[in-house]
Amino acid sequence: FFEDHIALGEVDSTNTVAERELSSGRPTPFFVVADCQTAGRGRRGRNWHSPQHKNLYLSIALRPSLPPSRLQTITLWLGLRLCQLLRDTYSLPVQIKWPNDLLIHGRKIAGMLTEARVDSEFTRDLVFGLGLNVNTSETDFPEELHSIASSLSMNLGQPLNLSRIAHRIVHHLSDAIQDYLNEDYADELAHLWPEFDFLRGQGISTEQAEGTAVGITRNGSLRVEREDGSIAILHSGEVSLRKS
Ligand code: BTN
Repeated sequence: FFEDHIALGEVDSTNTVAERELSSGRPTPFFVVADCQTAGRGRRGRNWHSPQHKNLYLSIALRPSLPPSRLQTITLWLGLRLCQLLRDTYSLPVQIKWPNDLLIHGRKIAGMLTEARVDSEFTRDLVFGLGLNVNTSETDFPEELHSIASSLSMNLGQPLNLSRIAHRIVHHLSDAIQDYLNEDYADELAHLWPEFDFLRGQGISTEQAEGTAVGITRNGSLRVEREDGSIAILHSGEVSLRKS
């Protein structure tokens, strides 16, 4: 599937490298991996902690030429397929927290950041970025992440072979992207979501609504049932669990 790939030592951000290569006309699809990032990006302008040789920093670049509405659920879809892979390979109880986090026992092990360039109603360039904590140990995380972040090795009790898992993930994501672009995904997305949905049935609050998370729509928006029984549909945002 991939035309080629770029493997680098230290970079600012693999998403930035992928965007630069897209702008200079590199044939797609390709992917970028790096040993560490000096300016790893998270959602909402946050920094992504990216220590050297420990974790996977991956960006996949595509030129889909599809309307943005056709790509709305790509991050959720790839997140679910990653949950499946990690569960089936390592027997880990991985869950997805809408819209872009993967968690084990409520702690974040991966974040996804999809960035796209749209012109005259078509998505021309798309970069899917994945940061997966593979071998970070408790003490590698900065203080403020201690209670909220985790890694595969922390859950398995032993370090993993980083290049082996990187190969597996790239291979799996390439299949998942092809399924997505071939339109084989919508029913499976609806079917898989409840199996891995971290927020399901939880009391949550966001900037727009408070209530109980009750799954997603076919467009990938979050459904929240308010106390009065009405349903709020959230297209984007930051979700926190409500303390009961
Ligand atoms: C988030 O949880 O806010 C998303 C984090 C995404 C991090 C990955 S690491 C590889 C790629 N390059 C970046 O700069 N960000 C993504």
